[in-house]
Amino acid sequence: MPQAEALTRVLDLAGIDVPILMAVDTGMGREGVRSTHDAIELAGFIASQRRMGLRGIYSHEGHAYAAPPGESGVVLDQAYEKLMELRDAIDSSLSVWPGCSVTASRLAAMPGISAVRPGTYVFGDLSLTLRHNIMEWDDLAATVLTTVVDRPSSDLALLDSGSKTLSGDKTPDGISAAAYDRRQIYVSKCSEEHGWATGPDVDDLSVGERIRLVPAHICPAVNLAAAVTVVRNGQVIDVWPVSARGRVD
Ligand SMILES: Cc1ncc(COP(=O)(O)O)c(C=O)c1O
Repeated sequence: MPQAEALTRVLDLAGIDVPILMAVDTGMGREGVRSTHDAIELAGFIASQRRMGLRGIYSHEGHAYAAPPGESGVVLDQAYEKLMELRDAIDSSLSVWPGCSVTASRLAAMPGISAVRPGTYVFGDLSLTLRHNIMEWDDLAATVLTTVVDRPSSDLALLDSGSKTLSGDKTPDGISAAAYDRRQIYVSKCSEEHGWATGPDVDDLSVGERIRLVPAHICPAVNLAAAVTVVRNGQVIDVWPVSARGRVD
């Protein structure tokens, strides 16, 4: 409610009218109204404002990532139920826009869903492939090229990609990245500039060897890079600057 009140003041000052999507918390515990009571109250406030028009509700099912493999359907069903309940309590003609790559393709097929807003699926990562089987491994579109910089023991390789490259995000199993070539090599620990690679195939690696990694979470990995190198059929065809790098404003 304080956000809606602040927005009213900004819109009055700016002299513009805007359509509004109300955020709904479907279980992640982040932004959005928690209860039907709060949703009705906020919808009433929006309806009383001349510069706002409520068009729909939206959500982000980020907690689906932490669901055990094969069980994200439970999160999806609960989210769908809550979205429909809140929509019908306010106005059944409102549009409904959930957003999460784990649930998007299934929610898009359900009645009453107007649009889905996935982001991670554009490149894909370990969460969407190994963990939740939402994407095929061959559809992964972004990897991190890393170099083996040390082999201190037979069960460990040190890579030149740490949390400044892969980000601090891990899969729920504690993995920061895995080898794209499907060898069983996993980055199980990171410092800023280094990754600790372990796993049954790690002894294959030699100092100086370059391997491609699939990060646990591709979104912050892209955000940490100054540019991405575009490769087609093994040939570098372009370099795209990441214009939103590090931007939090
Ligand atoms: C509000 C919101 N909508 C949609 C998305 C996209 O979800 P995903 O990263 O699962 O594709 C995000 C991701 O963080 C989000 O915060």
